[in-house]
This record gives sequence, C-alpha cells and structure tokens, in this order.
Amino acid sequence: MVTILFASPRDKGNTASLLKPFIETLKSEGEDIVFFNLYAMEIEGCRACRACQDQFQIFGCPIEDDMHRVFDSIIKSDLILLASPVYSWYVTAPLKAALDRLVYGMNKYYGKKRGPCLWENKAMALLVSCGYPPQRGADLLEEGMRRYAKHSGLRYLGMLAEQDKGYNEKFMDQEKEKRVGKFARELLRKLYPCDTSFIG
Ligand SMILES: Cc1cc2nc3c(=O)[nH]c(=O)nc-3n(C[C@H](O)[C@H](O)[C@H](O)COP(=O)(O)O)c2cc1C
Repeated sequence: MVTILFASPRDKGNTASLLKPFIETLKSEGEDIVFFNLYAMEIEGCRACRACQDQFQIFGCPIEDDMHRVFDSIIKSDLILLASPVYSWYVTAPLKAALDRLVYGMNKYYGKKRGPCLWENKAMALLVSCGYPPQRGADLLEEGMRRYAKHSGLRYLGMLAEQDKGYNEKFMDQEKEKRVGKFARELLRKLYPCDTSFIG
C-alpha cells in the first residue's frame, strides 16, 4: 500500500500531471493507493508541545485536524510518496507542516524517556517539479529528505524531479510520462524485491 501526499496548490498543475501516470502505473501493478491532497485539508503546524512524546503506541498529537487520517494511512503503508513542487528550495508549506507533525508523532525520541520509532523501515520517495534544472532546483530538498528519512529509520528510495521551463512551454510530454512510469516500476521493485512480476 502506498500513501501519496500531494502538495501543490494547482491541482491541475505540473506535479499533478506527473502524478497521473505514476498512479496509473501503480494501479496497473495492483498496488493499493491512498491519496491525500494536502492543500484541500486542514493541517496545522507543529506547536512543539511534545504531548506526542508521552504516547509510545499512537500518534498522540492533541491538534484535532486532518493529520490524524494521514498518520493512520501511513501506519498501514509500505511507501510514502511525497509529491510536491519545489518552493524556496524545499517542499510547499502544507507538506512541511505534515512532515514536522510526523517527525515528532512517529519518532518518540524527544521526551523524558526515549521511545520507539513507529514507522521504522517504511519507504519514502519523492516526485517533484521545479523551475530550475533538478540538480539546482531539487538538490537541497532531496538532501533534506535523505536526512529526514535516515533520522526516522525510513528507507529513502529516490526522487524523480522534472523541470518546468515556464508558462510558454508545455510541461508534460511523452518522455516525462515514460520516466514517471519507469520510476514507479523501480519503486515497486525496491519495495517488493522478491516479486518478479514487475520486470518488463
Ligand atoms: C512560490 C514559488 C516558489 C518557487 N520556488 C522554487 C525554487 O526554489 N526552486 C525551483 O526550482 N523552482 C521554484 N518554483 C517553481 C515551481 O517549483 C515550478 O513551477 C513547479 O513546476 C510548479 O508545480 P505545480 O504546477 O505543481 O504547482 C517556485 C514556484 C513558486 C510559485
């Protein structure tokens, strides 16, 4: 099962057009998907109250918003796919808020007594669009997420980043679509290495 956190304010924009073939590929391989559009949800920023650090088995966040649904889905998932445009060299604000809530709610490292990591060994991957060429537009975001994953006991499986060359150029084309399909199949291979049905 894959939880997708989609975090563009443009739900017919570039990131959304990368997600379309990504989701189609996963579905064609029989993967269960739970999709969240973070811009359409209520997700507050972490208040650093640390109440979650006294709850070792559950999310434990006292903020009553949509983040609880995201937490419940991730707990059941094998892969968390972050789909975001790059804003100011990182993810967009709602996804940043979600990541802050998760780094505390999932990792019970920060209380009086050190507790468990609730999402240990799950996988994380990134599907990103950016204005600069990816090596200068998405490099810092990828490095940040690599560290985030390492800190959280997650397996970082990789990033596909595609460049938006501006309003005068069509973003999506067949080459991008092919790269997205290949990326999705590679992620499935890494997730389920013994299942050879994805080869082809
Ligand atoms: C507020 C804002 C900040 C941005 N910051 C960056 C940036 O730091 N680096 C970059 O490469 N592109 C940046 N971009 C460009 C977007 O990442 C790019 O246009 C992306 O494809 C938009 O995706 P969307 O259509 O899914 O919203 C920014 C765009 C906006 C609107």
